[in-house]
Amino acid sequence: MSDRKMITAALPYANGPVHIGHLAGVYIPADVYARFNRRLGKDVAFICGSDEHGIPITIRAKKEGVSPQDIVDQYHTVIKKSFADLGISFDEYSRTTSAKHKEVSQDFFKTLYNKDKFLEESSEQYYDEEAKEFLADRYIVGTCPNCGNENAYGDQCEKCGTTLSPSELINPKSMLSGNIPILKETNNWYLPLNEYEDFLNEWIIEGHKNDWKPNVYGQVKSWITEGLKPRAMTRDLNWGVPVPLPNAEGKVLYVWFDAPIGYISFTQEWADKNGKNWKDYWQSDDSELIHFIGKDNIVFHCIIFPAMMKAHGEYKMPTNVPAFEFLNLENEKISTSRNWAVWAHEYIEEFPGQQDVLRYSLLSSAPETKDNNFTWKDFQTKNNSELVGIFGNFINRVAVLIHKYYDGIIPAGNENAEELNEITKAITEVENFLENFEFRNALTSMMNLARFGNQFLQIEEPWKTIKENPEKAANSLFIAVQIAVGLAQICEPFLPFSAEKLQKMFNVSQLNWSDLKNEKILIKTGHQINPSELLFSKIEDETIEFQFQKLENTKSSNKKTNPNANPMKDEIQFDDFTKIDLRTATILTAEKVEKADKLLKFSVDSGIDVRTVVSGVAESFTPEECVGKQVMLLANLAPRKIRGIESQGMLLLTNNADGKLVFVTPEVKVENGIEIG
Ligand code: 2FM
Ligand code: ZN
Repeated sequence: MSDRKMITAALPYANGPVHIGHLAGVYIPADVYARFNRRLGKDVAFICGSDEHGIPITIRAKKEGVSPQDIVDQYHTVIKKSFADLGISFDEYSRTTSAKHKEVSQDFFKTLYNKDKFLEESSEQYYDEEAKEFLADRYIVGTCPNCGNENAYGDQCEKCGTTLSPSELINPKSMLSGNIPILKETNNWYLPLNEYEDFLNEWIIEGHKNDWKPNVYGQVKSWITEGLKPRAMTRDLNWGVPVPLPNAEGKVLYVWFDAPIGYISFTQEWADKNGKNWKDYWQSDDSELIHFIGKDNIVFHCIIFPAMMKAHGEYKMPTNVPAFEFLNLENEKISTSRNWAVWAHEYIEEFPGQQDVLRYSLLSSAPETKDNNFTWKDFQTKNNSELVGIFGNFINRVAVLIHKYYDGIIPAGNENAEELNEITKAITEVENFLENFEFRNALTSMMNLARFGNQFLQIEEPWKTIKENPEKAANSLFIAVQIAVGLAQICEPFLPFSAEKLQKMFNVSQLNWSDLKNEKILIKTGHQINPSELLFSKIEDETIEFQFQKLENTKSSNKKTNPNANPMKDEIQFDDFTKIDLRTATILTAEKVEKADKLLKFSVDSGIDVRTVVSGVAESFTPEECVGKQVMLLANLAPRKIRGIESQGMLLLTNNADGKLVFVTPEVKVENGIEIG
């Protein structure tokens, strides 16, 4: 076993606050693991920071009309504070816009470049001539070739879920200007992932068959089996770490190249401040690298980042990548854009001093092997029945009785009592489960010890025996207080705020794990304890009602009268609208377009001219049905060649309930050329 643990938690995008899904699926388990390893005496570096590059940031900035820097400054502060408030014990929480990160990620890139690890390739990418920018996939919208959704993104159609590439979109448009993007040649640097297939096969597929979680192993295996392709490690964007090469103006490192290097640069920042050598954690044989991530990050942490480190040559591969599935909220997918979430910073405000309740409840529903669900009712039950009813109740009874009968001084008892084995059993179980990333089982083992303590008191009834058999009462409370202090020691990785209170209450200090295992007696006869402190308090129905109401409000503001309606497009200004020339027109003639099943060619009277328009309605109308119809014409759409015919505008269409295309027509016949607006 290695002495060092390099523990990372996925860098959250600084484009919004963190919610319970993030906490349950990455940060709380990672924190439990880091705290536990510190208790084991390992030299732990627990590193994280904000992911401040990438398209999610620039999209949010554009939406809010501010700069990307404004966005990341705002959310970095909120996220960092939420983590600190919840006791997530990062050794370093930095950000990818730091100067050190720029230096380290550029240096990493140059090392690979100098070792000739990249392929420099030219490709055609969509470019917006008006905005003078290459377009990231998310910045291109068009019609999905799979389901016909006209608002599909260049990387995915949110309606049918198909993964797309921008070139597959029909009628692609730039989200920056609304113009049709052109294809423009550009050079980028690719990491030939295909050349790492043998290495990945041997390292993961052969080497981690039995010790990696099946969800992680399975996903990696299927990626490798499908075959890997070179992947661009640079992008034509203006937000990110600049590519450190001459002639690379306007190019930045791919966000998934720079973000994982963040783990390294933040370790360096931490090491510099603390007189440590960062290489001991990343490049030495006595260190283990563990990445805590959500399932959507598996490919980046198990294939791309390892290939980058392999190409670099000086890094150790991760020992394990415990990826979590997703957490739902009240049986619905958590969604930032629909505000369907419990936000960490709001919880902290609304439940002051109750951080451990959230930690406990999220750990007990951690989506370890499959997606899991958080409900407020369950949260209340976990608090009221388990934390208050079992854990807090047991500790409180022990402390109160010791104060009442012995003035807070631990009485004498049987130091070899069989019941004490329960403490050792819980310690061993928690250790084994945590070594195996089984957080829920570990939590259950801890809680079972509290359950045992409660049952023990119930059977022994020291409050009755104190009169007729004081020695028995003393023995019962001696054993009970050993269990209580055992819990105080064991609970620290899970419930750090309560652990601190308990140490004060029992006037004990925190033991490292091996001492905890070896010391049979955790609190000695004659030891003075302090007055009992309240650990957990009942959560009332009104508190839960309030949370339900908040979610109900979100639901009604999200409610669509038509569930099939696409979400509203980005807001436009009135000026944008006035640029559109919409007017009434009448179809004069209609004919089929040769070798194009879907197209009809129309001549239309627009009131200002008679023009040709090609439209994809042949599957919905015969040419005869169209002649004479009054329609709405988008008259100033730039002419486009469709099947060799120049189409001078667009007729407005929509779908009827059967999915058939229908013309949008004025309610009554009007003159041609009348403007709409
Ligand atoms: O999925 C995400 O939220 C990413 N920001 C995670 C980055 S993890 C890492 F590699 F930096
Ligand atoms: Zn689709």
